[in-house]
Amino acid sequence: MKVKKIILVGSGAVGNSFLYSAINRGIAQEYGIIDVNEKVAFGNVLDMEDAIATSIHPFNIFHAKYSDCKDADIVVITAGRPQLPGETRIDMVEGNSKIMKTIATEVKKSGFKGITVIASNPVDVLTYVYQKVTGFEKNRVVGSGTSLDSARFVRALSQRLDVAPQSIQAYVLGEHGDSSISVFSSATVGGKLLSDFEKAGKIDSKEYPQIHESVWRKAYEIIDRKGATFYGIGSALANICENILINSKRVMMVGAYLDGHYKNNGLYTGVPAIIGCNGIESIIEVSLSEAEQKQFDISCKLLSEVIIKANDAIK
Ligand code: LAC
Repeated sequence: MKVKKIILVGSGAVGNSFLYSAINRGIAQEYGIIDVNEKVAFGNVLDMEDAIATSIHPFNIFHAKYSDCKDADIVVITAGRPQLPGETRIDMVEGNSKIMKTIATEVKKSGFKGITVIASNPVDVLTYVYQKVTGFEKNRVVGSGTSLDSARFVRALSQRLDVAPQSIQAYVLGEHGDSSISVFSSATVGGKLLSDFEKAGKIDSKEYPQIHESVWRKAYEIIDRKGATFYGIGSALANICENILINSKRVMMVGAYLDGHYKNNGLYTGVPAIIGCNGIESIIEVSLSEAEQKQFDISCKLLSEVIIKANDAIK
């Protein structure tokens, strides 16, 4: 029987948080770490293997080479320079696109046939770069997209309405970044639209701009205080990988390739999609208000302009 195998490329704070979350969820049995800094990669292998004896889920972990991607089920890529205080994710596009091109070339060379999950920022553009360089089928290249943004949005509504986040379905669409869109119009709590809660006086739409701002500014609030974010994205990545490996067919927020979806195409960005063993099985197009569609179009246009910069950087 083939055990589940995940290779991580990028043994930094995000990558290691993902790996630790995955190990504790027991989503795979074999984990390999690749990092340009071999010493750090091996150091993290040595550290994480110390959890084997006390883990409730059996696993093995090793210092991997790109050739080890060949029979992996999933390759997770978190490598790249992290966002500095006061910097936007898009500011990192040139340098991180070059790094992503190198990684993509190596993974392609390994003969990898599985699903790739990418979190390196700016994630929407770097997911596009990776898919372009590898030529892998677009559905088998999954960005973390607005998975974390949506988790932040759900939690904000959960706190405001005093309802468990698991009973709230609310999406953030578009760029994983400053131009994202918190979609209030189709958000539901226990299956009831948020507008019904407005009518019942339980929430006021005047609060929405502040709730949205708390979502898209969250990363800056964290980076200003501790220099980087990693636990939230690490958990979001483990959640995506788990649902791929169990072929859950769950609707999740990820970065997916738009081919006319939501009236846009030619880019990866955050949208709800059915997730299974083939990666993105299909994209779910929720209804958007006119204002939300307009904001989504703006976000896609911005990303398309950044893709031009990325293409120049990897020439
Ligand atoms: C954040 C990083 C993952 O939003 O971009 O925390």
